[in-house]
Amino acid sequence: MIEETAIVTVEPNKLLQLIKEKLMAAGLKEAHAQETAKHLVFADACGIHSHGAVRVDYYAERIAKGGVTIEPEIVFEKTGASTGIVHGDNGVGQYVCDEALKYAIDLVQESGLALVGVSRTSHSGALSYYVKKAAEKGYLALAMCQSDPMVVPFGGKQTYFGTNPIAFSAPRKGSNPIVFDMATTVQAWGKILDARSKNKEIPDTWAVDAEGNPTTNPHNVNGLLPISGPKGYGLMMMVDILAGTLLGLPFGKHVSSMYADLTEKRNLGQIYLLIDPARFTDSEVFKENIDKMVDELHEIEPAKGFDQVYYPGELSQTRYDKYMAEGIPIAASIYDYLVSDTVHFNQYGGKGAFAE
Ligand code: NAI
Repeated sequence: MIEETAIVTVEPNKLLQLIKEKLMAAGLKEAHAQETAKHLVFADACGIHSHGAVRVDYYAERIAKGGVTIEPEIVFEKTGASTGIVHGDNGVGQYVCDEALKYAIDLVQESGLALVGVSRTSHSGALSYYVKKAAEKGYLALAMCQSDPMVVPFGGKQTYFGTNPIAFSAPRKGSNPIVFDMATTVQAWGKILDARSKNKEIPDTWAVDAEGNPTTNPHNVNGLLPISGPKGYGLMMMVDILAGTLLGLPFGKHVSSMYADLTEKRNLGQIYLLIDPARFTDSEVFKENIDKMVDELHEIEPAKGFDQVYYPGELSQTRYDKYMAEGIPIAASIYDYLVSDTVHFNQYGGKGAFAE
C-alpha cells in the first residue's frame, strides 16, 4: 500500500495566476503563459487532473532549458480550399495549438470544412479544450495528436506508438457541446502522473512494469496498454499517421520523448478537422437532434452499479461548473510548488519516457 497525499481547493483565478507566474518565471512571454495557464485550469476544472497543474513543473523545466521556442514565428500555410498547415516553430503547445485552431475556424467559416495540421509544436494538453471551443462556435470538431512512444503495441514487448488521443465535439441547441476526449491507451500517461503526485495506486489494467507485468504502483510503470488490444493499437496508428506522417513529421518510436532531452524542441504534430453542419443539413435541426440524442441517452435505465447514463463529457462539464464556482481541487504538493519560489525542481531532464 502507498500513502495518498492531501488535496487543496484553489480559487480558479488564483490558480491561473500562480501557473502563469511560474511559466513566466521559467521564461515564457505573458500571452503564451496566460493561454497555457488558462488551458491547464480548464483541464483541472474538468477533473482532467492528468493535464492540469500537475504539468507545470515539467513545462517550467523544459521552457527554462530551451526545449520550447520563447518567441515562435507561427505561420499559417494555406494549402487548398479547405486545407492548411500551421507551422508552430515549437512554441509552447497550448498557445501554438490555440492559434492553429483560430486558423482552422477561419477556414471552416470560409469553406465549410477545415483540415488543418499543426506542425512542430510541444505538448498540447487536453484536446477537449480545442474541440469544445470550435463546437461553441457551431462546428463539429475532431482533434488528434502525437505523443511519446510509451505504449506496447498489441502482442509486442517494446513500446512503439504514443498515447495518441482523439477528441470530438458537437454543438447543441442552448447547452454546452458534447465532448468526447480520450487517449487511445486504457489511461493517459498524465493519469499515471496524477496518481504519482497523489501517491495513489492504479488499477492493474492500465500499464505494465519493466518486466511487462501488470502493475498497480504508478512509480513502476514502464509501458502503457492500448484500449481493447488490437483495436486501440489500430486507432493509435491512425492518429500517428494523420497527426504525424501526413505532416512530414517523425512517427512511431521516432517521435521525441517528453523527458529525454529538455534542451531539444519536440517537433510534435496535431490535426484538426472542423465541419460546418450547415453544409450537410439544417444546422438548427442538427443541434436539436444532438439534444434529442442526449435526452434519449438520459432516459436509458442505468445498469446495476450505475446511477445514470451520461453523455460523453457530461461529468467533465458538471465538474467544470462546480469547480469554477467553488474552487478547484489539486494535490497539495502541486499547490506548495506553485506558491514557492522554486521555478522547477530540475527532476525531469535526461530521464527515460517513464521518468520518476
Ligand atoms: P478519460 O478516460 O478520463 O475519459 C475518456 C472519455 O470518456 C471522456 O470523453 C469522458 O468524458 C468520457 N467518460 C468518462 N466517464 C464517463 C461516463 N461515466 N459516462 C460517459 N462518458 C464518460 O480520458 P483519458 O483517456 O484519460 O484522457 C485524458 C486526457 O488526456 C484527454 O484530455 C486527452 O486529450 C489527454 N491526452 C493528451 C495527450 C497529449 O499529448 N496532448 C496525450 C494523451 C492524452
